[in-house]
Amino acid sequence: MKDYESILSKLKKYGQEDVLRFYGELSADDREQLLCDVESLDLDEIAKLYHLADVPAENKFDESELSPIDVIKAPVPGDSEYKTYYEKGIEVLRSGKVIAVTMAGGEGSRLGHNGPKGTYDPKIPGHGSLFEIQLEGLRSIHAQCGSFVHWYIMTGESNHAKTVEYFEENAYFGYPRDKVTFFKQGVLPVLDLEGKLLLEEKNKILKAPDGNGGIFRALLDNKILETGDAADAGYVFVCGIDNCLVKMCDPVFVGAIALTGRACLTKTFMKRSPEEKAGIYCLRNGRPLVIEYTEISAHMAAETNADGTYKYGDANVLNYIFDINRLREALSVRLPYHIALKKVKRLDGAGNPLKSEVPDCRKYEMFMFDIFNEMGDTAAFRIVRDEEFAPVKNAEGIDSAQTARELFMRQNRIEMENPIVEIDGDEMTRIVWEKIKEIVLEPYVKLNTEYYDLSVQNRDATDDTVTVKAAEAIKKHKVAVKCATITPNAKRVEEFGLKKMWKSPNATIRGILDGTVFRTPIIVDGISPVVRTWEKPITIARHAYGDIYSAVETRAAKGDEVFLTVKSKDGGSRELLLHTFADSDGIVMGMHNEDDSVESFARTCFGYALSEGLDLWFSAKDTISKTYDHRFKDVFAEIYENEFREAFEEKGITYFYTLVDDAVSRVMKSKGGFVWACKNYDGDVFSDMLASAFGSLSMMTSVLVSPDGCFEYEAAHGTIPRHYHKYLNGEKTSTNPTATLFAWTGALAKKGMMDGNAALADFSQRVENALYRTISEGFMTGDLALITEKENPVTLGLEEFLEAVRDRIFL
Ligand code: UD1
Repeated sequence: MKDYESILSKLKKYGQEDVLRFYGELSADDREQLLCDVESLDLDEIAKLYHLADVPAENKFDESELSPIDVIKAPVPGDSEYKTYYEKGIEVLRSGKVIAVTMAGGEGSRLGHNGPKGTYDPKIPGHGSLFEIQLEGLRSIHAQCGSFVHWYIMTGESNHAKTVEYFEENAYFGYPRDKVTFFKQGVLPVLDLEGKLLLEEKNKILKAPDGNGGIFRALLDNKILETGDAADAGYVFVCGIDNCLVKMCDPVFVGAIALTGRACLTKTFMKRSPEEKAGIYCLRNGRPLVIEYTEISAHMAAETNADGTYKYGDANVLNYIFDINRLREALSVRLPYHIALKKVKRLDGAGNPLKSEVPDCRKYEMFMFDIFNEMGDTAAFRIVRDEEFAPVKNAEGIDSAQTARELFMRQNRIEMENPIVEIDGDEMTRIVWEKIKEIVLEPYVKLNTEYYDLSVQNRDATDDTVTVKAAEAIKKHKVAVKCATITPNAKRVEEFGLKKMWKSPNATIRGILDGTVFRTPIIVDGISPVVRTWEKPITIARHAYGDIYSAVETRAAKGDEVFLTVKSKDGGSRELLLHTFADSDGIVMGMHNEDDSVESFARTCFGYALSEGLDLWFSAKDTISKTYDHRFKDVFAEIYENEFREAFEEKGITYFYTLVDDAVSRVMKSKGGFVWACKNYDGDVFSDMLASAFGSLSMMTSVLVSPDGCFEYEAAHGTIPRHYHKYLNGEKTSTNPTATLFAWTGALAKKGMMDGNAALADFSQRVENALYRTISEGFMTGDLALITEKENPVTLGLEEFLEAVRDRIFL
């Protein structure tokens, strides 16, 4: 039992007795708890805290005492010291002489996250929470040196239990349990503007973590450096929890301290502007000091060296490595307190929760870097900012998960195990191609492609063998992305001085792959289809073999009798009268199709509908064409019954045949969201009709699918020569890259799916979403701006539009 009277009189001495104002209403247990809480306070220290001079920090030092800190430029691969540092670092790490400490005392409240900050998931594709990201780094160290680094996690009073529970529940994410230790940092009371203690609950004094500088007191109080792995260690690596690009126990950093023999190295990055909100390092009378951006004078912030770099430009990353013995010596030092005015929730006089509109509470914190004043012998280890600094501090905007994702993905580009076939093309689309890669894809993906140049010039130079090689490569790698290409006509032959009028590359590739083309419009906000009922895209599958496209036709004269003759292999023959031109001249045509082709068309359509989870419609005119079109209908029906019915039913999708005229009227009244398989001519006509009814041909993607599962993605439009001529004249164009971009995302997503590469598939989806979002926010290319129903659309040039998409990938 605590002695109420003696505690009360102690409180009275400091004018703090008000914290016992609810004592009378409390239960025996709560009374005991409150008295314990009060007894643990150092009231003398609290009085001193309050009287800490609140002088504006800028006046705290004289600029004449300051000079720049020693800087070691972190070597990069290729520099002579890099190998030396790295190898030394690995040697030290292998011998188990390094421990890692993460300061994870904070809550994720500023991020809108309910729980310890380390459990926050910044949603970096393929990665987990902030804790998991650091664990990946530690696992990588194990992979490099063969030893597990002991990881010490500093928690706070309020998040300790939840942090431990998180690791327990996730079985320490596979890291050895005996290599993870948690320890708690201390707290300091929060005071009001008069220096009075406050209550969080009627039985609890309001306290807050003692700042990241509390780490030293916590290491000391918990005897961390005296026991276990730490007792035998030579170096302590320390970082915060919120930097997604932190290089855990960076071997180069470790090697640097081992070889320079410094007491501490602190990672810094060069600030980009005098106004940058980052504390900077300097020496004050020869001892290291960090001046926070709030405390630095404008003159000092802008001062430069002869080479134009900032004299005081080394900003604090919050990543240190200490010589453990030098750290032990400095641990018991009392760091200064920094005061922050905050809005803090507490109880008012009547015991009701109170949070004022203006900051009216004083929080006291110690800052880790203040130890350097005591320690001395610290050098800045200057790294490249974008390679190692991606903090997550705010829910949005600067230093948010979004900016961290973007920076992280640039540094850890998605790998592709297997290549896709990249088929380059002609004119403006060739420029669009290059820009898409440069602006949207390559910053985040290590593109692995087998490249074929199908420009009309190269097709001519290789006698079109390059097209055949590209088609063979598709058979091998299964996934391809193709740029639009010129199909030469007489004018083009002359324009490019071609050897001959080469066949359309698409026809050559399709011939080799035996594929079917599926064309799907891209529906975006602000460009409504002409047909009001359409809500989802309608994908058209065109049978691209036979019928009138390989028909034999001729003119007939009055009096001609035209027959269709069939000669069998066994010598027999049949003759069918086509027409007798009794009264007039005329025209005739003989056309064909092959069962094999129709069958593979049917199989591809069923397979595609199944993979996309869409209903399949097929239309022909079997009532009129009782043999020819009826054969199509029968082939589809047989293949459906024998090979696909079960799978369709399982997936909850349907196959539906109807007459082509009926199909047209149903399509016009439908909501969309299905695949419409069409005979060759129908597909030719209806796909253009759908393209313009959905918006524009620039918003139509196309994929060639073969029955053995090859996919070639392409934009449905041509090479946009009009824009190309402008481009060649140095004019800026507002070319719409959407369909070509979606060809890339389609191919990457498909490859991602085939290879089980979730990060690649996720990235492709993000790019598509970013494009939808860009247009939805009113930013678009000229062609769309003309037809959008959005008010005041902003027309962007090709590159600006791609940049706008890129900026939204990680939102
Ligand atoms: C900190 C640095 C700043 C640096 C910036 C880089 C300090 C005082 N400021 O700013 O110089 O440029 O990082 O990102 O060091 N933490 C605890 N317990 C606490 C308080 C914080 O564990 O009581 C942890 C946080 O979980 C976080 C880190 O310390 O990992 C950041 O400390 P914080 O006080 O939030 O400083 P910043 O404003 O982020």
